[in-house]
Amino acid sequence: MPPESSTLSSEVDALFYFIFYSALIIFLIVVGAGTLLIIKYRKKGKDRLTSGKDHNLKLELAWTIIPLILVFIVFVWGFQLYMKMNIVPRDAIEINVTAQKWFWTFTFDEGFNSINELLVPVDHPIKLVMSSKDVIHSFFVPDFRVKMDVVPNQYTVTWFEANKTGTFDLFCAEYCGTGHSTMLGKVKVVSMEEYQDWKSQQLQSLPEGGSLSEQGALLYKQKACITCHTNDGSAKIGPSFKGLYGRSQRMSDNSTVTADENYLRESILDPQAKVVAGFDPVMPTYQSLLNDRELDALISYIKSLNTEEEQGDSK
Ligand code: CUA
Repeated sequence: MPPESSTLSSEVDALFYFIFYSALIIFLIVVGAGTLLIIKYRKKGKDRLTSGKDHNLKLELAWTIIPLILVFIVFVWGFQLYMKMNIVPRDAIEINVTAQKWFWTFTFDEGFNSINELLVPVDHPIKLVMSSKDVIHSFFVPDFRVKMDVVPNQYTVTWFEANKTGTFDLFCAEYCGTGHSTMLGKVKVVSMEEYQDWKSQQLQSLPEGGSLSEQGALLYKQKACITCHTNDGSAKIGPSFKGLYGRSQRMSDNSTVTADENYLRESILDPQAKVVAGFDPVMPTYQSLLNDRELDALISYIKSLNTEEEQGDSK
């Protein structure tokens, strides 16, 4: 089991181990008794094949009542824990989670969002209100023993309270297409002070520092473009960003398009409008995820990836 890092993980583990060891003991009794009886009553020469016994009331009562009690314990225990895991504490901090192929967006009440990294304070309940933009995904943090499906057209809610600081892995636990295995995130648990600092920073400095293309390089990672587009020329789920700007490309409808700023902008905001031949139309829209400045920065970054020669060609 991964380390226990939330308030409910030890309770989940206790129930899990109770079920596991009960099942193990019953398995050993059944297989052990079966083996002994096979040996004891095997065919020996001309001897009779089985014992004359066909009934044992005590034994039958035992193997009916003991499992019944076990199942009842598991039901009551499991139901209590289920309620605990589903009733969100009143003082929880609420964060919206959007899943889409193939990344996570965390939107805070104050309006800013982060992608693939959820920063939360330690020892405080966190409520997640989750929905999907496309197919079913599942929010899974093993260290917290939290797993909840994220479904299109409706909200699912879950909560956790981390009791250790640190960085914890977030997985998508529902197969959601080509990029499922790359749909990874982190939950960063920090002190309440650090959390407050980070929040005020987010509020003040929606990106200002650095050149436009440097900001774009940051956004390339933060907004998870990197999941599908490389910056070294190799094709992944989508075309590489390197050498893309200014190139003439054949589209899936056989038309040819030159990748200029307007094409890049359209491809980010309305990816299905023009799909490069040989790629699947799987990119989600970034309409609500990038403001104009961020769009400029990303396009500037894509341009900066061309070698000087290629840049010369495009002008
Ligand atoms: Cu999202 Cu698998």
